[in-house]
Amino acid sequence: MESGLVLQAVDLHGRAADGPDSDALLLEPVEAARAAAMEPGVRARFVAGRAALRRFAGELLELPPGELRVSFACPVCGSGPDLAHGRPAYTRWGEPVPLLLSMARTHHWILLAGLPAPGEGMRLGVDAEDPSRLDFDGFDAVALSPDERRAVGRLSGPGLLRERARLWTRKEAWLKMTGEGLRADPRTVEVLGRSGIADLDPADTGLPDSLVAAVALG
Ligand SMILES: CC(C)(COP(=O)(O)OP(=O)(O)OC[C@H]1O[C@@H](n2cnc3c(N)ncnc32)[C@H](O)[C@@H]1OP(=O)(O)O)[C@@H](O)C(=O)NCCC(=O)NCCS
Repeated sequence: MESGLVLQAVDLHGRAADGPDSDALLLEPVEAARAAAMEPGVRARFVAGRAALRRFAGELLELPPGELRVSFACPVCGSGPDLAHGRPAYTRWGEPVPLLLSMARTHHWILLAGLPAPGEGMRLGVDAEDPSRLDFDGFDAVALSPDERRAVGRLSGPGLLRERARLWTRKEAWLKMTGEGLRADPRTVEVLGRSGIADLDPADTGLPDSLVAAVALG
């Protein structure tokens, strides 16, 4: 794994339905406006994730999180302080901060990834998934390439679900790294053995063993 990459898991179990006020207060108006349009449960996870990401960035940069301004980037909508979706990034006093960021949410966990002082042109993506969510017919047909379908075809039970989750997190990590997200057809993103993607061990992330995670960097 790239030296300098920092991973942090945030456990949302036991939080109040709306989360602490300190989380909501950390959001900028453009983020709060996006949150306001969400269903309550989704909103709570969104707010917790945005607050955790901002605190994480502040820690890595050794800056107060309130000094950071969102500067997300979307392949369709562009980037800047008025955008609250897409690839996460921050500016401070109008200048991009030297930090690559990526994040993922599962139901009760948030996974954050950061690379301070990245090399020119580097990009980062991270993803986490609960294998039990992938227990449905049709997953392989909509998500996997022919080679990947053959590879999981020999598996069954928990082993099948874990391998599906492994391939899926590798795809999402890659697509967050490129910035395309699921505008790209996941069947066309071959991730078996692709360099630049690494499966993440729970010992490295702090996530429970029941979840699967991957990072893409390049
Ligand atoms: C990236 C994507 C696959 C993640 O979806 P998901 O599995 O539901 O959510 P995850 O919890 O794993 O990740 C969410 C985080 O991914 C990041 N993310 C979103 N879009 C991203 C992109 N294009 N590139 C990199 N990271 C992105 C954000 O940090 C987001 O957090 P947020 O909800 O606080 O904004 C999905 O959001 C996507 O496909 N986005 C692109 C779609 C697009 O371009 N739409 C056009 C909008 S106009």
